[in-house]
Parts: sequence; structure tokens; C-alpha cells
Amino acid sequence: MYPDDLPTDLERLAGLSRRRFLGTGALCGAALFFGGHPLGALAASLQTGNRALIGFDGIAASGVDAVLLPPGYRYEVLISWGEPLHADAPAFDSSGNGSAADQERQFGDNNDGMCLFAFPGEADRALLAINNEYTNYRYLYAHGSAPRSAAEVHKALACEGVSVVEIHRDADGWRFVRDSAYNRRIHGNTPIRMGGPAAGHAWLRTAAEPGGREVLGTFQNCASGKTPWGTYLTCEENFTDCFGSSDPAFAAEGAMKRYGVLADSKEVHWHPFDPRFDVSQTPNEYNRHGWVVEIDPFDPHSKPVKRTALGRFKHENAALTQAADGRVVVYMGDDERGEFIYKFVSFARFDPAQPNPDLLDHGTLYVARFDDGDGDPQHPKGRGQWLELVHGRGGLDAAAGFPGQAEILIHTRLAASVVGATRMDRPEWIVVSPEDGQVYCTLTNNVKRGGDGQPVGGPNPRANNVYGQILRWRESGDDAAASSFEWDLFAVAGNPAAHPGTASGGSPNITAQNMFNSPDGLAFDGGGRLWIQTDGDTSNRGDFAGMGNNQMLCADPGSGEIRRFMTGPVGCEVTGVAFAPDYRTLFIGIQHPGESGGSSFPSGQPGAKPRSSVLAIRRDDGGVIGAA
Ligand code: FEO
Ligand code: CA
Ligand code: CA
Repeated sequence: MYPDDLPTDLERLAGLSRRRFLGTGALCGAALFFGGHPLGALAASLQTGNRALIGFDGIAASGVDAVLLPPGYRYEVLISWGEPLHADAPAFDSSGNGSAADQERQFGDNNDGMCLFAFPGEADRALLAINNEYTNYRYLYAHGSAPRSAAEVHKALACEGVSVVEIHRDADGWRFVRDSAYNRRIHGNTPIRMGGPAAGHAWLRTAAEPGGREVLGTFQNCASGKTPWGTYLTCEENFTDCFGSSDPAFAAEGAMKRYGVLADSKEVHWHPFDPRFDVSQTPNEYNRHGWVVEIDPFDPHSKPVKRTALGRFKHENAALTQAADGRVVVYMGDDERGEFIYKFVSFARFDPAQPNPDLLDHGTLYVARFDDGDGDPQHPKGRGQWLELVHGRGGLDAAAGFPGQAEILIHTRLAASVVGATRMDRPEWIVVSPEDGQVYCTLTNNVKRGGDGQPVGGPNPRANNVYGQILRWRESGDDAAASSFEWDLFAVAGNPAAHPGTASGGSPNITAQNMFNSPDGLAFDGGGRLWIQTDGDTSNRGDFAGMGNNQMLCADPGSGEIRRFMTGPVGCEVTGVAFAPDYRTLFIGIQHPGESGGSSFPSGQPGAKPRSSVLAIRRDDGGVIGAA
């Protein structure tokens, strides 16, 4: 929570913003707050495209092992995997022989979503909470392959979770502060409390923890969100990859099959050495993961809490906003082919004067159903509904496998299917526009579309969708708690050079100059620019010829114009985005450079081990990122 004796950034901004921000949500790509958002003059000018929103020259695609930016921009490395967080923590060990205990005191691996928390009243001091999604065995261990011992599994667990780091700004820009009392690692063995309606449920109990109320660890932490009361939400995504079975006859059934547990654990390979991850020995452990976890970055001794009211699935991020009446709304995607988009609406209103630390434990979870829309090949649009996931309603009863609300929350995917939600093209990040409250969601790709019970149509308009699209919706009455909405596709990615004049060429705002595939990370900045990050096919051949490495683009939500802002090094994903409070520094994440070799980012030294890193991007003239 924000420190008691200081004004929160909510209060600081009150009266300052032309758009009635309820927080500095724009500091975090995943969390933008607004209250009341009638289309004002600003939004109207956006609609007509009259304002020169994007002020840099778009750059070309690139396949080189470097970060490239428009003229007038530069970057510095803020922090990299293995950086010691404390004065007495060991330095990064490139040999791969460092221990789990070392890693628990260093910056984690494969940084992903992040949020910035400004110290109220201190312009030059902030915390960054940064997810560490997974680890690359190629670089983690000296032998470069899957773990071979319990100690090596322990080290992998120590790489994942969250890193909280303090940063300071001086004349040379923002710097990581080693040995700050706020620096903290939350990892795969950190004690975490279960909160909300599913806490203590029989399906969450294990022999090691029969209460079902305290879990070890968070891992596979993808993207994130920020609450108005100053806490961080980290989202557990591909958690089932971490579970496997020692039983040669094992075949997942029912919910375990739907959530994707495989006997071989997709090569993560923890289960042979830690029975916690062996579903044949510890079948309930996997139910204790796949949640949104709330962390108080301002209290380094606080225990994180898994908020079960937000449901259990492969959580991408959590985008917070507020309903017209002050209730907190959280948008969330489930990143799997054919899975769903969700919305949580709290029962209680957020009261800045008396923040309720457990506000996210009580509310209603909804899932989205989209109609087929108008079928317009250039710009499809239609309507949709939010379907409640509430025990006793919509067929969610004991006969359907849901004797109570806890079972709905633990088996959220199954409940959403019962009520008739729309199977989507892999929902990734969701953000809320600070200008007009419209919600944007990346649907990254889906090669199963057109088969597998996933019909082509509505917001998922292409079979074998290798490029992805960006969905947008406006809630009825511009109220985030509404039960219905209107949707359209803001952009349909494609390759107009390889597939001119066809659906694979993308929407009219995709050109040979700005094309990309697999949109993933999203953020709005304070000027209303929409930033897009990619995690796609970087082969630069065939369907993807001319697209190069993963990249970051900037869009004008009003005109639809998109320009390429940054290209990443070889093999990386560009993911994670936060802005400094003045929007003059942009923090972004370079995840898994050289995933399959071929990179020495960020050092650039021949033969050096590549390291996932957070970059601080600035303009040479000190101006606002992205602006003219
Ligand atoms: Fe961790 Fe769906 O990206
Ligand atoms: Ca992602
Ligand atoms: Ca992705």
C-alpha cells in the first residue's frame, strides 16, 4: 500500500488531470484508471486524427542482434538477470554454477510485465515490480539442459516470480539502487497466503499443507497490474507446464486435461526431483497455482496473497479500472488457444480514504460472449455480453460439477464453457484507454482457429490465424461494470507484402512498413498513445518475411495509424512496459534474447551469455516519449 503519511499518487493527481484519473495507472502498462470518461474535446480530436499524436519517424524491421530506436532516442540497461539486489549478494555467475541461494538474492530471469510505483511526493524515486516469468536452461546451468537434481530445480524456482527494485533518477537518468531496503525477491518457494472464496477448499489441501491456505511460491509470472491502493498484481500464466507425472500410465482427464497438464511437463522437468510437482504424488498442488497474486511493494516483509475471486486460468495480465459507482473492475485474459476473456467487478467501492486491503476477495467474475458481428472484412464489429460465473446461475450447479462458488473459481475454464463464453484467439494483454475508457486486448494468434470446435467469425475472423489481431470494446453506457458492450477490431495483423489484397494482408492500417505478427504487450501512455509489443515468429521468412525480430510499435487509437518504434535483439520477446511519472523515460523488457542462440545482448561481447534485461529509453532532448 502507499505509505500512510504521504499523499497517494491518486490524491496528488486529483484535480490535475483533465481526464479525472483515479491513479497514475498510466505508469503501468496494465493498469489505467479513469472515472467518468465522456468523449471530450480531446477524444474528439483523436477521432478525427487531427492531432499529431505520434512524433517520431517509424523505423525499419531488423534482424540484427541489437536494440534499434528512432533517431533522437537512446537506451540504457537498467538491470539484467542475475544482478545482485543487495550489497552482500553474489555477482552474476556466467558459468551457470551459481546456487539457488545466490539467485534468490539476484534479479530474476526472463523479466516480463512490470509496474512503476512512484514514492508519493518524490519525483526522482520509485519502485519497479517486475515479473520473472521462467528461465532458460540453456543459460541457467553449466550443462545447458533440463535440471538433473533437486538443487537444480530449486535454482530454477529461484529464477521465477517477482523482483521488486528501487530506482532513482539523477542527472544521468534512472538507476537501479542496489541494497535498497525495498529490494526483494518473491520466487517459487516464497510463502504466499490464499485469499478469497476458494481459500481452504479441499481441492487446495495437500499433505504438506492440509489447511489449503498457505502456498509455496509463484512462478510463470507473465504480465501484471496495479491497484489504486498501490499494490502489484502478478499473474500466473503457464503454471501447468511445471507439473508432470511419474506414473507411466498417467493421462490427464477432466479439469487437469483442460488446464493442460502433460506427463512430461513440457520439459520443465521439476517433477522427477520435487514431488510437489508430480501430480501423481501431489494431485492438488497444481490447484494452488494459476491465480492472480497481490504484492505490496512498499512493505518488503508483507506476505503476498493469491486472490482466488479473480479465477484460475492461464492469467496474462490484470487491467484495473473503476465502474461509474467506484467499484473496482479487473479485466483479464486466459492465454490459450480457444480460451476466454474475463472481467471481475468488486462488491465494494474503492475508498481512497479507507483502502480495503482485501477488496479483491469479494466480487463477481464474468466471462465474455461475442456475437458474430457484421462480418465486415476490413473492420468487423458487433456486440457482446458479460456472463456471470455465479453458483446456482446459468447452469453452474452441483450437477454440472460446481457444488459451490469455490469450485467455479478453481475450475474457471470449465465454468465459463458451461455458460457459453466465446473461444478466443489467445487473449494476451488488456489495457483501458485513459482517454475514453475503451478496452483493448491483444489476441496474439491461433493456428487452431477454424477447427477444434473454434468457428471462424466475430472477433476471431481468420482460420489458421498466424498473425493475431487487436480487439477493442466499449462498455455500454461507458460504465466498466456494464453487462454488455460493443466491439470492433482495432488492427488485424498481417503481411500485405506477402499476401496483398487478402485477409492475410491484415487491416488497412497494416502496411509493408509497420507490419508485425503476434501482438502481446500493450500500454497506454499519458498522451493516449497505444504501445504494442510483439512475441511472434521472427524467422523473417514466408508468412513472416519482412517482419524481422520482435518489436515495439506505437499506435494512434483515433486514426488507427501504427509506427514501429523499436526492434529487439535476436531471439528475444519484447515484453513489459512502464513509464516514469513524467513520461520522459520508458522502461521496457527484453526477454530471452538468444533463446536459441545467436545473441550476446546486452553486452554485445562475442561469446557472452545473453541476459534478459530491463531497458530505460529516453530522448536525446529529454522530451516525452513518442510525442512530437
Ligand atoms: Fe506470458 Fe501469454 O504471455
Ligand atoms: Ca505475453
Ligand atoms: Ca505471447
